[in-house]
Amino acid sequence: MEITGGRYEQECPVIFGAGSVGKLADVVKGFGCLKPFVVYDAGVKAAGAAERVMRILQENGCIPVGYDDVKPDPVDTDVTEAGEKARKEDVDCVIGMGGGSSMDTAKMVSVMLDNPGPISDYFLSTGKVPSHVPCILVPTSSGTGSEITRVAVVSEAGTHAKGGVFASGNIAVLDPELTLTCPLGVTANSGFDAFSHALESYTSGANDPMSDVLALKAIELIAANLKQACDDGSDVERRTKLMQASNFAGIAFSNTGVHFGHAFGHQLGGHFGVGHGLACSYTLGEVARFGAEHDPQRGRDIAEAMRLCVSENATGREIGDLLADEIYRIMRYCGIPSMKEKNFGREECIGLAEEAIATNPFYYNTPVPVSVEKFKELIAKMWDNYQ
Ligand SMILES: [Fe+2]
Repeated sequence: MEITGGRYEQECPVIFGAGSVGKLADVVKGFGCLKPFVVYDAGVKAAGAAERVMRILQENGCIPVGYDDVKPDPVDTDVTEAGEKARKEDVDCVIGMGGGSSMDTAKMVSVMLDNPGPISDYFLSTGKVPSHVPCILVPTSSGTGSEITRVAVVSEAGTHAKGGVFASGNIAVLDPELTLTCPLGVTANSGFDAFSHALESYTSGANDPMSDVLALKAIELIAANLKQACDDGSDVERRTKLMQASNFAGIAFSNTGVHFGHAFGHQLGGHFGVGHGLACSYTLGEVARFGAEHDPQRGRDIAEAMRLCVSENATGREIGDLLADEIYRIMRYCGIPSMKEKNFGREECIGLAEEAIATNPFYYNTPVPVSVEKFKELIAKMWDNYQ
């Protein structure tokens, strides 16, 4: 790996390890709080994780208030409603449990508890970096890295355009045991989201030395454990490695940003109403191929992390082909249906290019510019090469 320069930081401290959720009441009390607003969704409730956490808090002297109405990919009015409920309950901190939607809703509720008005008053477009009450994040799947990012993503009611609010957690509690009940589809889609964070970070135009190390380690852990976790979700060691990968990839892309993979993933997800992880999975092979063609050494690093054999004289193009083939193999193994099987029309997908560029400013975060024509070619390859 070539050493790069650049600014890097980690937004949110982490308590990591199987059983760490048992320390949650101490974490709450460490902020001088006792009455957390615990934000989760129906899936977390059904898996029994919410009940377990509420019990841990109650048995250790806290007075938790549960909120189980988090919507997938929430719009700002959903978040404002959750924030109003929290204000009425007179809580003193927030715990977000679940995937990206629950954690991001929790972050935004923590902003509303420290500021007046609806959450739309604090959109990124206002330029505000709002204060917030203590916010504790507890992921129950391994993918989004939302526990570590500094922006909470929310769509605007009406337009459904993706926007966000500057909001971070104060601490994250990462307990892989909470992911043991993750169904196969969630395990696979979340894993591919983390994979896309790591790959786009490592192939971005804004590398830094810490993010490079974390992104490569995440790639290694995902390549070595995702298929196996899809086979046997009860393997706590695999789950631990995937949670580590998701967190490392989150820290990496939080510093470097993502690029055309997520730009297309966002557009595809919004247009066809599919989840973020699945939408981003379709971009992985071509992001890796693009990265290796542009920078063969980085492609070689990725191949090494994935334990692939690369001949000494291999060109960037050959390394890219190797990476893409292996990624598509992993996707097939994990049961990811092709875009064709999902009835996403090829031309319709290509037609999303302009809007993806217009609405995702990070599209330009590639080491060399990618023209709209080139982007359309890449989307066509994403569609054609994974059948
Ligand atoms: Fe993502």
